[in-house]
Amino acid sequence: ANQVRLGIVGCGVIGSGVLRVLADRKGAWEGVQLAATHIAVRHLERPRPEYVPRHLLTDDWRIVCEADDVDIVIEVMGGIDVAHDVVRHALENGKSVVTANKALMALYGEELRDLASKRGLFLRHEASVLGGIPVLHTLHTYFELNRVQSLRGIVNGTCNYILTRMWETGAPFAEALQEAQALGYAEPDPAADVEGFDAYYKLQILLQALRVDTHLLQTEFVADGQPFVGAANSGKPLATLTKPRRGIDSVDAAQIEAARRAGAKVKHVASAVWGEDGIVHCTVGPQVLQPDDPLYFVDGVNNAIAITGDVVGTITLIGPGAGALPTASAVLEDVLQIVRESADKG
Ligand code: HSE
Repeated sequence: ANQVRLGIVGCGVIGSGVLRVLADRKGAWEGVQLAATHIAVRHLERPRPEYVPRHLLTDDWRIVCEADDVDIVIEVMGGIDVAHDVVRHALENGKSVVTANKALMALYGEELRDLASKRGLFLRHEASVLGGIPVLHTLHTYFELNRVQSLRGIVNGTCNYILTRMWETGAPFAEALQEAQALGYAEPDPAADVEGFDAYYKLQILLQALRVDTHLLQTEFVADGQPFVGAANSGKPLATLTKPRRGIDSVDAAQIEAARRAGAKVKHVASAVWGEDGIVHCTVGPQVLQPDDPLYFVDGVNNAIAITGDVVGTITLIGPGAGALPTASAVLEDVLQIVRESADKG
């Protein structure tokens, strides 16, 4: 079997999930043997599950990026600045990278993708957006013939859970948020979820991927007359660019009840719709959805993305948008895809 050695930076929920899957499968897939060789963590002494091999731990991420016995670096530490250094350093040392880092890809995706392609390396990040749902694979491998006409998604599980509970039971906002936190979906600071930043980052990433994969580099993406994609990749503070982003903190029980009586639901939707003018109109915020909308039935912590192509019509992918195993699944699918594509390249 083809031996592939993995350096993992970060061993929180996602990193541990990856190690758990590797342990469960003994690292063996059809023709490929995966093994972790170095794992960088912040706290060496912290207690960890038995599937985290302690002898592989280091508190120096540079070792992971530089080691001769690492073929692919998996960045699952989160945060922005150090993660940015990690991914750059790994690529500069000739390692392909798989990352689950949403903020990093939203802010620096284009720069990092350029660096990877200049060096003939892979940079994959399926797990950075919609957890276990293979939306980047779908955009990357399917939309050659079709012109994408719209992307509409329920991309934040915490918002969806809160709105679902409020709609179903009339539960107050704070109680529903606590439940979502208990399920492990909310960001460390749940303001990132309920104020719509998480969804905003995810839409940025989807549009970046779409631009690159479907050759839409000249297309203009706007929200409220401001550039939506591209500007965010300058690494400038997002505050100036987030005007079109709205969260669910403005949604009250009366609005949800009014929608319910009318047979509709309030959902937090991130969307990009291609206009007649060729400009793509982007929004992130609450919308009232009718039952004929493919996103209407997506409840609880589930995420979904409805992609409309001019030939195929609307395809909707629904599934777990976060959680240790769905996210580890996305990370390892990327790893295996890199292994296969490297073998194809010869
Ligand atoms: N906080 C995010 C959510 C987690 O609720 O969807 C996955 O990015």
